[in-house]
This record gives sequence, C-alpha cells and structure tokens, in this order.
Amino acid sequence: MNEPADARGPLGSPWSASVERGEDGALRVGGLDVRALADEHGTPAYVLDELDLRARARVLRLVFQAAFAEIGTGVDVYYAGKAFLSVAVARWVADEGLLVDTSTGGELGVALFAGVPGERIGLHGNNKSDGEIARALDARVGRIVLDSLDEVDRVADAVARRATGPARVMVRLTTGVHAGGHEYIATSHEDQKFGLSIAPAPDGGDSPAMTALLAVLARPELELIGLHAHIGSQVLDPAGFAAVTAKVLAVRAELAARTGVLVPEVDLGGGFGIAYLPQDVALAPERIAKELASAAAEAAAGLGTPLPRFSIEPGRAVVGPAGLTLYRVGTVKPVQLSDGTVRTYVSVDGGMSDNIRPALYGAAYHAVLADRVGSPDLVQARVVGKHCESGDIVVHDCLLPADVRRGDLLAVAATGAYGRSMASNYNLVPRPPVVAVADGVSRVLIRRETEKDLLALDQG
Ligand code: LLP
Repeated sequence: MNEPADARGPLGSPWSASVERGEDGALRVGGLDVRALADEHGTPAYVLDELDLRARARVLRLVFQAAFAEIGTGVDVYYAGKAFLSVAVARWVADEGLLVDTSTGGELGVALFAGVPGERIGLHGNNKSDGEIARALDARVGRIVLDSLDEVDRVADAVARRATGPARVMVRLTTGVHAGGHEYIATSHEDQKFGLSIAPAPDGGDSPAMTALLAVLARPELELIGLHAHIGSQVLDPAGFAAVTAKVLAVRAELAARTGVLVPEVDLGGGFGIAYLPQDVALAPERIAKELASAAAEAAAGLGTPLPRFSIEPGRAVVGPAGLTLYRVGTVKPVQLSDGTVRTYVSVDGGMSDNIRPALYGAAYHAVLADRVGSPDLVQARVVGKHCESGDIVVHDCLLPADVRRGDLLAVAATGAYGRSMASNYNLVPRPPVVAVADGVSRVLIRRETEKDLLALDQG
C-alpha cells in the first residue's frame, strides 16, 4: 500500500510523527529534507526522530502511572535497551523518567557511561558471566533478574566475596503464557531457555520457580524484591498480558502463604506491538495499561493480597516507530515470473546486514520513494539488499512508482527497534550510522563504520 501520489503533509502510521511530504514531494523528517540528510550522512542511514522517541517514552510512563494510580499502586517503566541503545538514547529515556533494562555487560556499560544511576538499571540474561554479575554489583544496579537456580548461588557468592551488601534480585518466571502476533497460547511445560517454570515438578513437588524463590530467601546476601515475567514480543493482543498478570500474582500469593514473604514488586516485561505497515494497528499504550491494571486489581482481590508495585519493560514500542532507514537505489531489474507477471527488483545499498528481521522472522516493512513522489503508475516491487544471498530482502512486496530508478532514495518505516541493534558486518559491509533529527538539526549518534574499522579488528 502506498500513499496517494499527490500526498503532501504528515504521512502518519507507521512513520514517526515528524515524517511528512514537503511541497516538492520529498520526504522530510525532524524538519529536514531526506535529500540533505543523505548528502550529509550518506546512505544507508538509520534516522532517529528524537522528539517522537521521547514522546513515546513519556506517554508510556504517563498512561501507565495513571492506570496504576487508579488501582492504588505505582509502576516503573524500564526501557529495554536491547531494542536499540546508545549513550544519547539512554539519556533521552532517562530524561523522560524511564529506567533502563539491560541484558548484557555491553548494554549495562553504555547505560552507566550515559550517566544512568545504577539503581535505575536492571540486569537480565539467561547466561550472565561472572564479569557481568560483578559489574552489576559494583554499579549497585536496582535489580538483577535471576534466570536459573545456579544463578541464585552465583550471585549470592559474588555478593559475599565483594561485601557490597545484599543484592536486590527478582526471579524470572516462565508462566506458560506466550504471545506474539495476534495470538497467545498457554502450555504448562515450556521448551525454551528463559526463566524458571511455575508448573509443579512431575512428581508433584515444588516448581522450579518456587525452588529458586525458596533458595533466594535462604541466602542473606540476596534481597528478593519481586517476580518477573515476559511473554513475548510484538504482541498485538492484550489478553496475554492479563493472563500472565494473574499467574504471577498467584505465585506471589503462594510464596507469601508458605513463607510469610509478600514480595513488593512484579515486572510484567515488554513486548507491546507496533505498526510496521500502514494497515497495521499498534497496541495503544492506554489500552495495555488499562487492561493490565484491571487484570492486576481483579487477581489481587481474588487472592486477597495487597497489590505490589509494578514495572514494565517496553523496547520496540519506544524506539521502533521513531526510526526509519534511508537507502539509495542501485540496480532496478524487472524479473518475469512464471505466471507472466513482472516483479521489479529494486536493489538498495544495504540489506540484511542493517535489517535482519525480514530474513530472520519474515517481518514485513513499508517502503516509499523518498526524494520525490514519482510517477502515478505503480509497479509490484521487491526491495532487496546488496548481499550475496537471495533471502536478502528488505521489503518483500510493495508498490513503488513505475519510474523508480538508480539514484533515488527509498525510506523504510519503523526500523528503530532491532535494526541497528541486530546489525552485522556480513559481506564485510560496514554498519550504517544512526543519525538523530529534531527541530531541523541532525546529529550523528553512532558514526558509520569504515573499512578501516573492519581492518582494525583484523590482526593479519
Ligand atoms: N524484557 C525482556 C525480558 C525481553 O526479553 C524483551 C525482549 C523485552 C523486555 C523487550 O521487548 P519489546 O518491548 O522490545 O518487544 N529481535 C526480536 C525481538 C526479541 C525480543 C527479545 N526480548 C525482533 O526483532 O522482533
């Protein structure tokens, strides 16, 4: 689907708020013409709309705070840095009142370097190294989310060695609620690497989650601050979030009944789905917040336990729609298909190295001609990259102006999350820069890699 050829003004979803067609038909973002951006920064380039990103962070915080205040409790919003983290982005989200969720030493290091206080950072990971644990303890992070039974002792032993005082920990539960796309499924025994199952052991004994929780309570080096669950990513149906809320609160009540310890916090993870195509409907923050708050209030009332403080960890919903990728068109090749139709293959100067999501997940994206409107007649097009692989597809199917030609600029919407953060150097293609735009000014957040950067790692 393409916007009408005579469209001028804001493009709307799935683009960031400042994307519009200027008077001469070229795309503008953050008040800047994409032709000027391409001239100054080269292509491909990730362009990040700072004000859009900040607004999404702020709105998530405000609507969640309002919904949870209504049921009588508080909520913290952690930005999931895996979606995309740089020093500037860590500062922007911190400015907007968010905390930062990290899942590796690298993400933790960037958040700390950006000046995010340790107590406003969380550390995840199913296989944390000793170094990562030590660094988190030294930074006195607000919470370490334990992901396995052996991690209980590893973190407690590290605390004992470093004498840093008790570490604040959560335990990640595997609840059997899995979501993604439009569906969620519930199974009691899960075949995946994250967290500890809440399903009872086959002999009817304690679940792995309960075993770990009791182990945490037995170690004075650990302060059990809460329970954590994350159901999946790009979730478009809030029913999964409501289901997981009830399950986590039930485990909390069971632990309280057995030990007298009612943990003060519950984190419900991230995964809020966004629009990638014009016809997609994102999961509205107000809707998730309201459904989660009412599910929490109902479950807690049913269990007869007071509500905990909550937290959430959105990544994609903050940064995804704020980003677009600018590419330059190289080869344009009409390919005759066996059914007699023609598909126009439009090759751009990037591809699976800057956006692996179409190849990895079959993810769909929306592309438009960006430097001009182009002819009113459209062709069935496939936007492909420059890599040596036929699966190197940027946009599987789209309509582009029939006169699309070498030298044109293409813009692909909603590439802010899991684009740069999952980028590679496949075929020794240097990774593109991340350029922030706001109020008519552009600023490089991460510079373009060069061949020299690649050779700097090569020891000959
Ligand atoms: N919290 C935890 C514990 C997570 O595992 C994740 C994502 C998030 C929060 C943030 O989820 P988000 O709000 O961004 O959906 N590479 C995949 C997504 C992997 C997500 C992994 N965990 C993609 O490109 O779709």
